[in-house]
This record gives sequence, C-alpha cells and structure tokens, in this order.
Amino acid sequence: MSDAMNYLLQARPEAMKAYFTFLKKSDSHLDIRTRDLISVITKVAVQTEGGFRQYLTRALRNGATPNEVIDALMMAFPVLGLAKIIWATDILLAMDIPEFRPENLDAEAFWHDIVSLDEIPQEETQYYQNEGRHLFIYRKGDELNVYDSRCPHQVTDIPHLSLEGKILTCPKHEWAFNIETGECTAKGNRPLRQFDHKVENGRVLAYW
Ligand code: FES
Repeated sequence: MSDAMNYLLQARPEAMKAYFTFLKKSDSHLDIRTRDLISVITKVAVQTEGGFRQYLTRALRNGATPNEVIDALMMAFPVLGLAKIIWATDILLAMDIPEFRPENLDAEAFWHDIVSLDEIPQEETQYYQNEGRHLFIYRKGDELNVYDSRCPHQVTDIPHLSLEGKILTCPKHEWAFNIETGECTAKGNRPLRQFDHKVENGRVLAYW
C-alpha cells in the first residue's frame, strides 16, 4: 500500500474501511483474470505508472496472458484513447518482459537447456541467460532451485550484482529474498518465481 493510503487509513479509518469493503464487495461475481484485467485498465486510465506495473504483475501472476493484457488495452480504446494505450505500451517496452516480446506472444512453453549440472557449484548461486531471460540457480546437494530474475513486485529484472551472500535484493524498492528458499525476507510479501526443472543426461533443463 502506498504511503498516502496508509496516511488516509490513520487519518480517516472509518471512511477508508468502508472504501475497502466497497472494493471487496464490488468484484465478487468476476473471475480473477477479468478482475485483474479491469484493474490494469483503471491504472492506465489514470496513468499511474507504479500502479500499472503492480497490477500488471498481479494479472500475469494470476494467469492472464500477455495477449489478454493487450486485448484488454485495445478493447478499452473508447475510454482510453490511443495516447494512453501508447503510454502503457511504452512502459511495457521499458519493462521488457520476455513473454511480451512479439516473437513470444504465441509461443508454447518448452524445456530450455540451461547448463551442465557439473558446472553448478555446491551451495552457491549462479546467474544465467537463456533466450532473453535471466535466471538464478541455487544448488544444495542434488536439490536445485531455478528462479526467474524478475521481481515478484513489479517485474524488475534483478541484476546478478544484487546478490550478497544468500540475499538477493531488488534495486527498485528493495524487496529482499533468501536465495536458498526464494522467500521474501524484507519489505515485500511474495517469493521469487521458480521454474519447473529437471536434470537429463547431466544437463539442467528449465520449463517456461
Ligand atoms: S520491483 Fe519493487 S522491489 Fe522489485
């Protein structure tokens, strides 16, 4: 929640409680994806970049596809107009989310060959690039955790220099993550995204 919302909650608790109850009750007949897509559009309508990034991240996390986000933007043309759709598209381009790249919009998920298992040292975190996506892989014994480098807050691509020991800190708003588990340990409340993975013929494969 923003500092402004926190302030209003303290200054006008009854009014704000009623506001949150209103929000909670007003979407009770919508499925999650529809609700999330409408939320994304509301942020484009008022052009709040942080809100747009955050609601977009939530929509993707809850299963909306990039094509659905783009459809929602286009369908809202009568209220948004072209200028706001371009505004949102510029932010999407700046975020550079792999799934939104034109060549990936209709791509099927598949197993990506990342690295030889032998090359991953024990109890260390390695950083890899594979087809435009960055990954952190942590190994302990035979266990591997394969993390998306994208922050679960607003999809910032967390650089490898943000790793200090076992703690990965997103440079944007400083959410911190324990790289052994992926759990968020400071500022935020959601873990790093992990990819399904397997080892075949000594190679580590990850699925997205
Ligand atoms: S984008 Fe906000 S903490 Fe990472």
